[in-house]
Amino acid sequence: THQWRGIIEEYRDRLPVSGTTPVVTLREGGTPLVPAQVLSERTGCEVHLKVEGANPTGSFKDRGMTMAISKAKEEGAKAVICASTGNTSASAAAYAVRAGMVSAVLVPQGKIALGKMGQALVHGAKILQVDGNFDDCLTLARELSENYPVALVNSVNPVRIEGQKTAAFEIVDMLGDAPDIHVLPVGNAGNITAYWKGYQEYAADGIAARTPRMWGFQASGSAPIVRGEVVKDPSTIATAIRIGNPASWQYALRARDESGGAIDEVTDREILRAYRLLAAQEGVFVEPASAASVAGLLKAAEQGKVDPGQRIVCTVTGNGLKDPDWAVAGAPQPVTVPVDSATAAERLGLV
Ligand code: F0G
Repeated sequence: THQWRGIIEEYRDRLPVSGTTPVVTLREGGTPLVPAQVLSERTGCEVHLKVEGANPTGSFKDRGMTMAISKAKEEGAKAVICASTGNTSASAAAYAVRAGMVSAVLVPQGKIALGKMGQALVHGAKILQVDGNFDDCLTLARELSENYPVALVNSVNPVRIEGQKTAAFEIVDMLGDAPDIHVLPVGNAGNITAYWKGYQEYAADGIAARTPRMWGFQASGSAPIVRGEVVKDPSTIATAIRIGNPASWQYALRARDESGGAIDEVTDREILRAYRLLAAQEGVFVEPASAASVAGLLKAAEQGKVDPGQRIVCTVTGNGLKDPDWAVAGAPQPVTVPVDSATAAERLGLV
């Protein structure tokens, strides 16, 4: 029997590993590419969802983390550190366990989803809640990694980007070529950088005939790239992308410009509408930040910016179970019934 071996084994010849690199893996990657029927109808395009919430810790971060932790182990690190809005810390904590390393995580106080905090806790990470935002956490993590014996595993570590580029490989491997457009949520801008690198590598080697236009979407309250200036006090309900000064800002601009793409913003209202549509009409439960890609596609379609007939992939970056508050909020409370089938049938509208 065959099971997906994780991104390092599946794409070994395209990653900076050698025969002696210890592979620390939870068999990340190999995630579903799901045809999106309702989104396809709405846009007149062939839309697919790359469901990254199906990774071992529930987000795309695992692709980069298998690389970052494997390389840290190869270099003899005993401890790793990251700043995070929640998913990177959950992933770092889990992979550190696999590697027998200590993990330290810095998160913005009060601004990470409960599921993500639970993951870091249960995997035994040392957690500090920082009285500041993600950008402050990243500054602190960089300082600590420069001055103390602890390896930085944020996406400013280039091997993270190397791991994450494998999602683009998987898409081309599935579809037979790159899509016309690839849509992503943008926070610290590592992932858009990584996908663009992956698509470019496959095109350079003739595995793909073309590269897609890269479309990135930030949350309106946290849209420094759209505004062209640092956002000092970023805000959005999509806490995963609540970032005011993205580390990979310049790379995101390059991905946008070299691909003929765009980086725009979506409001929290648009994010939540896409979040509900994905769950209620596509059967795909994602966390709010992930819905920014789909919200962006719908916004662009409404503005007449999406020509019909194109092939489009939206990455949905994280699992809905990470942050279920938004699923429950505003939904009707389930009614309680006695153990009685007639009553149950009536309440279910079956009679
Ligand atoms: N979607 C989710 C679910 C995320 O967790 C993140 C980033 C993004 C999108 C944006 O990706 O930063 O590469 O542009 N989360 C980071 C973290 C910041 O700490 O977990 P990006």
